[in-house]
Amino acid sequence: MRLNHVYHKPCGELEEIPDSSIDAVVTSPPYNLAYKKQPGKKHNMSGYDSFSDSLPQDEYEAGQIRILNACARVLKPGGSIYYVHKERTVNGVAITPHRWVLKTEPELVETIIWDRGSTHQVDPVRLYVTHEYILHLRKPGCPPRFNRKCAKWGKVWRIGFSESRRNAHPAPFPRELVSKCLEMCDLPKGSIILDPYMGAGTTAVVAVNRDMKFIGYEISKKYIEWTWNWLELPLTEQSMRREGERRAQRDLQTEGDEGLGERVTGETI
Ligand SMILES: C[S@@+](CC[C@H](N)C(=O)[O-])C[C@H]1O[C@@H](n2cnc3c(N)ncnc32)[C@H](O)[C@@H]1O
Repeated sequence: MRLNHVYHKPCGELEEIPDSSIDAVVTSPPYNLAYKKQPGKKHNMSGYDSFSDSLPQDEYEAGQIRILNACARVLKPGGSIYYVHKERTVNGVAITPHRWVLKTEPELVETIIWDRGSTHQVDPVRLYVTHEYILHLRKPGCPPRFNRKCAKWGKVWRIGFSESRRNAHPAPFPRELVSKCLEMCDLPKGSIILDPYMGAGTTAVVAVNRDMKFIGYEISKKYIEWTWNWLELPLTEQSMRREGERRAQRDLQTEGDEGLGERVTGETI
């Protein structure tokens, strides 16, 4: 597998990654929300670049079970997965990610509530969905690493979007969220962090800032370009504000696939 690399392809079964080689996973899949692109609106919550995010629910859940089991295969025993997902409502009934997560090989360690403080999901006949779940899972085999200093954080994390609102990706993580997950794992420098749904690269940027290595998958060439644009900034300048401006400019350019994900390092293990 290649380190500090984003594969431009569907994550599938993570075929490129050997068994028991990854230290932690921080990820958030598309939520199957069937957002539609709105003509004339470029940077909003209306749609991803490369697909419609609208599978039949059972097909979606089967796919999520497959990828979570693949994450367990590539993780070292006891390795943590931080799986970010939200509740959605179908025909008036709530569907939460626990429904399929509890059918996977990784074990649920705890459920963290991410209080986002705002939402696009508003419905006048039910409570607004202003939170998401961060499901902390572990590969069976030994207890997960845990930084005891983090225990006092509790299970409700209030992390707003003041920073990532400037990101052109429709659903980026706030960097603070990834940072807290990696802090909790108490991993040494050089650890390898996987995000099978890399998006615009928040997991990669936080990992590099913590002297760790990353590996990811992403189906949108544009989002991989944004990841590399962000990583190429000096570490002290990797702010979302600057990057939002750069991304908007780069978005207007078209480039071939050649060299995608190969600019920082060609390291392989
Ligand atoms: C919720 S977003 C992740 C955002 C990311 N956490 C960030 O901070 O930018 C999910 C991403 O998964 C990508 N995606 C969808 N299906 C995929 C697949 N099968 N394999 C890899 N990436 C996929 C989408 O293009 C989208 O960028």
